[in-house]
Amino acid sequence: MSETEMIVELRGVTRTYQLGKEKLPVLRGVDWEIRRGEWACLLGASGSGKTTLLNLIGALERPDSGTIRIAGIDVSKLSRSAAAQFRNRKLGFVFQAYHLLPELSVLENVMLPGNLAGFSRSKSRARALELLETVGLAERMKHRPFELSGGEQQRAAIARALLNEPELLLADEPTGNLDSHTGEAILELFQELRKLHPERSIMMITHNREISKLADRTGELIDGVMKKETE
Ligand SMILES: Nc1ncnc2c1ncn2[C@@H]1O[C@H](COP(=O)(O)OP(=O)(O)OP(=O)(O)O)[C@@H](O)[C@H]1O
Ligand SMILES: [Mg+2]
Repeated sequence: MSETEMIVELRGVTRTYQLGKEKLPVLRGVDWEIRRGEWACLLGASGSGKTTLLNLIGALERPDSGTIRIAGIDVSKLSRSAAAQFRNRKLGFVFQAYHLLPELSVLENVMLPGNLAGFSRSKSRARALELLETVGLAERMKHRPFELSGGEQQRAAIARALLNEPELLLADEPTGNLDSHTGEAILELFQELRKLHPERSIMMITHNREISKLADRTGELIDGVMKKETE
């Protein structure tokens, strides 16, 4: 297996938080891999380190030891600005709490990553309109986030995460705050996106085992290590 076939390769990843004099070892040597084009689900109890691992994969934090290769790049060695550029070019983030900017319209929110990546305004706008169509929000594009339902906010956040055509979409409990019907609509959206772009990969955190059954690969964080369930 050549390296480039793997979108995520984790070897011996450790991360310990220091709380005063207390040491809290959260990740104790995580090994995992995700192939390009796969939908991977990450399970684990609350506090097991799922968001910590997602932050490490997204180069938002650094591990204490171990290697993290994303799309063939050793992200733990990147400088702060190189990490920002890497995120902008390769990754899309969907956070549990949406993180939409309240003062901007839905359309402007979705256009944001394009502005950061230096796309022209017309290119960002055209991509954003196309994505809002895909996620079924074209009619809400002038609304502000507080004028949307939870499911609509999550769909806007997904559209925003896709603006830069990320090779890897990182989603932290994207259905966690939604009722089951709206959650199902979001999952259907993810499945449609996979059909449109089979070469792209998704890593999704979830507490829900039923959701993880849809995935190509599942891992569960238990006591700081990855228990691989399915492949
Ligand atoms: N910046 C920090 N400083 C100290 N401890 C932290 C920090 N961030 C997280 N932790 C601790 O690390 C552990 C793992 O946190 P993390 O957010 O990764 O869990 P999680 O698996 O995402 O949980 P949840 O399902 O509740 O979101 C928790 O016990 C948390 O208290
Ligand atoms: Mg979390």
